[in-house]
Amino acid sequence: MLSRRRFIQSSALAALPALPFGLSMPLFAQSAGRQTLQIPPLMEGSRREGVVHYDLTVQSGQSNFLPGLSTDTIGFNGSFLGPTLRLKNGDDVSINIDNQLDEDTTVHWHGLHLPAAADGGPHQVIEPGRRWQAQFQVIQRAGPFWYHSHRIDRTGEQVYHGMAGMLLVEDEESQGHELPSDYGVDDIPLIIQDREFNEDGSFSYINSHQDIMFGKHGDTILVNGTVDPVFVPRTRKVRFRLMNASNARTYTLAFSDGRAFQQLGCDGGFLAQPLTMTELTLASAERCEIVVDFSDGAPVNLISKPLPANSPYRMRGMMGRMHGALSDQAFHILAIEPQSSLQTSAAIPPILTEVPDYEAVGIDRQRRFELGMVMGMGMRGGRGGGNAQQFSINGQSMHMVNINERVPLGSTEIWEIHNGTMMMHPFHIHHGQFQVKSRNGRPPHAHERAFKDTVKVAPGETVQVVMEFLHYADPEHAYMYHCHILEHEDNGMMGQFVVE
Ligand code: C2O
Ligand code: CU
Ligand code: CU
Repeated sequence: MLSRRRFIQSSALAALPALPFGLSMPLFAQSAGRQTLQIPPLMEGSRREGVVHYDLTVQSGQSNFLPGLSTDTIGFNGSFLGPTLRLKNGDDVSINIDNQLDEDTTVHWHGLHLPAAADGGPHQVIEPGRRWQAQFQVIQRAGPFWYHSHRIDRTGEQVYHGMAGMLLVEDEESQGHELPSDYGVDDIPLIIQDREFNEDGSFSYINSHQDIMFGKHGDTILVNGTVDPVFVPRTRKVRFRLMNASNARTYTLAFSDGRAFQQLGCDGGFLAQPLTMTELTLASAERCEIVVDFSDGAPVNLISKPLPANSPYRMRGMMGRMHGALSDQAFHILAIEPQSSLQTSAAIPPILTEVPDYEAVGIDRQRRFELGMVMGMGMRGGRGGGNAQQFSINGQSMHMVNINERVPLGSTEIWEIHNGTMMMHPFHIHHGQFQVKSRNGRPPHAHERAFKDTVKVAPGETVQVVMEFLHYADPEHAYMYHCHILEHEDNGMMGQFVVE
């Protein structure tokens, strides 16, 4: 689009350290100079009469990402992104959302198990100037979750402009472990997003069919809204809450010196034991908690590597030929420069939790979901205007009045998702966490054997997940399931279910 790349080349490329593997694509360094990683403010809520209250205002504003330029953005209690909400398992909470935008919006609690009417999906519209209140009890394992716009047709645009924030749930187990947990010091949220800018500093959203077909990708990385960020550890060990809040991009996160780290959990809870990893692939909406040891004091970068040549998540066929380069891009995500003397950190506990087997209670039924997309679609317009069947699940595109599935309360089900398209789709189910049962009949990867709400489904792959549908029956209000590439979601790859 613009001269962003030219601008970048002159600035920071030379400052990038050498990487230990061959990169064929240029790294798009981020700006004229490093900036301290911003940490979203922590909001713990205020307890009144046994209920913990949180107040969020959705507002438009301006942000300064690029030197000398301002960008129109949307944020919660600020101009871009929102505070990190901390919730405690078992608490009754009440969250006020005031919409000060001049357009409708909704606010969804991604990954949380709560009543459908409090879910903040496309039906819980908050009109301009109005307030919406979500009240629910936290019934949730500890983990990193998030909140974001879920407005019908325009989720992608609103999230792109900044309508997202992190939400950390703690429980007795997480608080009982000696894990790094000093927010902003050794417990660090990393909200990773990619953006494209116009010459005037505004965000460039959808410009082409490809921005819809592949989802919107950008060439500039923001972490917590910071361009070219640097983080200075003060402790030997740091826990990162990694969240891919990009509209579409998948990252393969690793450290520039190849150092190993401990994975504590994925989307919605701890793994049974910490897992030693050297890289992690996160699709849109996936999260992961890791602990990294900086005792050697050496500076290092968090990077995103090209998808390995044999990765099942690469695009295939015509899509691969057209846009395979998306999978080959590498990025500098975060510079890490430990301070000279580091405080000691406790050892990571060898056991983190017990992961119950959702299947043990018996499976009541199985459903199948077939992901579909049509190549060569028209511009924008989505389901309201243009091509009605660009993206689909079981041959149907999302329609607000169609309830696609009805699940009896109390059931445990297998949902089988088949991807017959040429690209990977991260499949997300509202209502809570599931367990990955199999991939093409084989057991899931070790790093996903816990609690997930979003699962990568590779081209040609069949993924089975097991989910329990408990606590909340409501035949009127629906939960969503959808691809979390937001342009796919906005253009029909979404369906609705009720629990009754
Ligand atoms: Cu992250 Cu339906 O949402
Ligand atoms: Cu969700
Ligand atoms: Cu998709």
